[in-house]
Amino acid sequence: VSSTSRPIGVFDSGVGGLTVLAQLCIEMPDEQFVYLGDTARLPYGTKSPDTVIRYAVQIAQALVACNVKAMVIACNTASAMALPAIRAHFPELPVMGVVEPGAQAAVNTSRNGRIGVIATEATVRGGAYQRAIVQRRPEAIVTAAACQLLVALAEEGWTDGPVARGAAARYLEPLFEPRALRELRPDTLVLGCTHFPMLRAVIADSAGPTVQIVDSAATTARAVRQQLHDCGQLRNAADGAGLRLRLLATDGAGRFAAIGSRFLGRSIAVSDVEIIDL
Ligand code: DGL
Repeated sequence: VSSTSRPIGVFDSGVGGLTVLAQLCIEMPDEQFVYLGDTARLPYGTKSPDTVIRYAVQIAQALVACNVKAMVIACNTASAMALPAIRAHFPELPVMGVVEPGAQAAVNTSRNGRIGVIATEATVRGGAYQRAIVQRRPEAIVTAAACQLLVALAEEGWTDGPVARGAAARYLEPLFEPRALRELRPDTLVLGCTHFPMLRAVIADSAGPTVQIVDSAATTARAVRQQLHDCGQLRNAADGAGLRLRLLATDGAGRFAAIGSRFLGRSIAVSDVEIIDL
């Protein structure tokens, strides 16, 4: 097997990273992907950094055992906490997270340098987005809000309707205050959690028509393609049978298939999900 035909490993705390996997498949239709969702231990967004790092390193070990040629941390919380630890464990392996591409896209998009970030509690508390944005644009003013309930709403499929609209409005209100001073409000909002693209329409409505939404899934997929290209690791289309997905989870094949189908945007059969122990 030539080294470029090895799979790309992708992982998340559960099904959320399938929004990132969907974009990776669009961007690189000739690659093979192994996706691992740690459904037995999600959510990561309410856990301590030490626990998230320990879980993420275990998952990375499982993916390395699948002979991956690169790894994408398709989870904002794990990217924010565990990227340096995973790189330190596997110095030879290209490892990419979602925070840096998301921060770069926000900096490119914002005109007034005021950027809002919505994410899980752990991602907001850790400050990785805030740091990544200010590193790229020192005068930027970043306001971050933890929107943990939106994770559950996305999994429940309540992505529209009064409950989703009410939750989005309540979480976003402090970010877009004061209403009177338009120029002081963020003009760009980063969806800093894998689940939030599912709620993009209600989030965009709450933020208002002047706010640009940045989705780290799409920008990450482009960054991963570029990095693989730069290190000569992109698979040649002539090499093989086109896109292939292997889906692994640590619990609940049925729930993974049912909820994951919505996140991936294509149907997943229960029999497509392999349950593994870490
Ligand atoms: N995947 C997580 C993230 O992007 C959201 C779900 C969780 O809290 O585990 O931050």
